Amino acid sequence: MRIAVGSDHAGFDLKTALAKHMVDAGHQIIDVGTDSPDVEVDYPVFGLAVGQAVAEGRVDRGICVCGTGIGIGIAANKVHGVRAALVHDVTTASLSRRHNDANVICLGGRTTGMQEAVDAVDAFFSVEFEGGRHLHRLHEISDYESNGSHAGASTTTEGTTTEGTTTTDTATTERS
Ligand code: RB5
Repeated sequence: MRIAVGSDHAGFDLKTALAKHMVDAGHQIIDVGTDSPDVEVDYPVFGLAVGQAVAEGRVDRGICVCGTGIGIGIAANKVHGVRAALVHDVTTASLSRRHNDANVICLGGRTTGMQEAVDAVDAFFSVEFEGGRHLHRLHEISDYESNGSHAGASTTTEGTTTEGTTTTDTATTERS
C-alpha cells in the first residue's frame, strides 16, 4: 500500500518509527515531513499535506502524528474526502476501519507508547470497512462535504432546540 506519513516535531520520533515499521512490512512510504524533533513546526502544515496526498489519490492512506494526534487530525479532516481518526490503541484503530472507513490514522507521540502505536497501526492496515449500516452514515458526511447541507431536523421543546437525531454510541463492538 502507498502511505503518506506526516508529523510535527512532537510526533517526529513516533512517525519515523512507524514509517520504518511500514517499510519493513512492504509498504511504500511518502514522508511529507517534518524532518527533525528539534525544530518547532506547526502541525497543520503536515496534517493538510497528508490529507491532500490521500484525497488526491497519490497514496492509499495516511499516518499523522503530533503530540496528542488531535491537532494534526483536525487539520487532516479539513481536506475534502479525508476521514482521519484519532486512535489510542488496537480497539479504536480497528473500529475506525470497521465502522468509519478511516483513511488516515492519527496518533499522539506524547500520549501513546511505541508498541501500542505499532499494534494500532498494524490493526488499522489489516482490518476492512464493514459497510452495511455504517455506509449511509459516511454518505451523510460526504453529502455535507459536497452540498453543505444535511438532513437533521430542527425541533423546539420548551425552549430547548435540538438538532437532528440523538443516538448513544459506545466503543463496544456489539453496538450498532
Ligand atoms: C506541540 O507542542 C503540540 O501542541 C502539538 O504537537 C499537538 O499536540 C497539538 O495538537
